Amino acid sequence: MARKKIALVGAGQIGGTIALVLAQKQLGDVVLIDVVEGMPQGKALDIMEGRLPLNTGTIITGSSDFNDIAGSDVVIVTAGVPRKPGMTRDDLLSINFDIIKKVGEMIKKTAPNAFVIVVTNPLDAMVYAMQKVSGLPPEKVVGMAGVLDSSRLACFVAMELGVSADDVQATVLGGHGPTMVSLYNFVSVGGIPLPQLMSKEKFDELSVRTAEAGTEIVNLLKTGSAYYSPAVCSIRMAEAYLLDKKSVLTCAALLTGQYGFKDLYCGVPVVMGAGGVEKILEIQMNDEEKAAFAKSAGAVKELVDWIDAKMKG
Ligand code: APR
Repeated sequence: MARKKIALVGAGQIGGTIALVLAQKQLGDVVLIDVVEGMPQGKALDIMEGRLPLNTGTIITGSSDFNDIAGSDVVIVTAGVPRKPGMTRDDLLSINFDIIKKVGEMIKKTAPNAFVIVVTNPLDAMVYAMQKVSGLPPEKVVGMAGVLDSSRLACFVAMELGVSADDVQATVLGGHGPTMVSLYNFVSVGGIPLPQLMSKEKFDELSVRTAEAGTEIVNLLKTGSAYYSPAVCSIRMAEAYLLDKKSVLTCAALLTGQYGFKDLYCGVPVVMGAGGVEKILEIQMNDEEKAAFAKSAGAVKELVDWIDAKMKG
């Protein structure tokens, strides 16, 4: 079987971490691409030199030429400017849109069969722009946010209850920003519904922390935003696609009427396999949750309108 090719566009904190973990997992050969000359080459060589103790045969190369995206099976896009303290994800909109446009045009030209995972913020708007610019089928262009937001909520629930995080399943929907929606009735701990183990009041505190989790890390790091957990969450999505796992994951997918919205990317549960987003799962929410989701999708819509205007102009 031919080796798979995974292109990481953006070789910064998230891209570099993804490359290291991909080498450990041996999911495919990796090309790290960045506009900064030397840096992707340096990171690639650094990981290559650690392959003996890593016990891996993965080949990692670095490049500053976007043509090296060509023929990729998976492209993970983190290219852009990360948040600094005091900056919202939306402040990044204009700067990162120009970058996504360039990358999207290159993917269209050189890797039209790729599965594209966008990580660059503001996430829901950037993945929307990527799909429009690249013209790839919507099921092959997704945004990484829900896997991370759900993982963060699962982490906080596990910390509160003193249980293992990998026994906690959580679902966080909506846009990747302060309006994201954590669902109380959709958390389970080793199969036990959370309402049997934790009060709604306590859950609401954890839900607020989840919505602010990115900012909490920005404020601690002071020089950038979270990268370890975004990296491993992106890999979970690549793995679902490459191994045709049919994983049930929350990701930013193009809505075509589901949850009452269309032509909008927003975080929803999907089945992810070799076809990309093979199905969007529509779950039953209560009235409060539905209203919160509508508010969150409305916030994304504002950014999408901005992108539509920019693309027409
Ligand atoms: N093409 C390729 N790479 C680019 C381009 C471009 N046009 N413009 C910028 N880059 C690169 C930068 O040189 C940098 O190395 O993107 C990389 C981004 O890496 P970091 O600044 O370390 O940011 P990171 O923490 O990896 O986050 C990347 O993900 O979570 C989001 O908000 C975050 O949008 C940010 C993105």
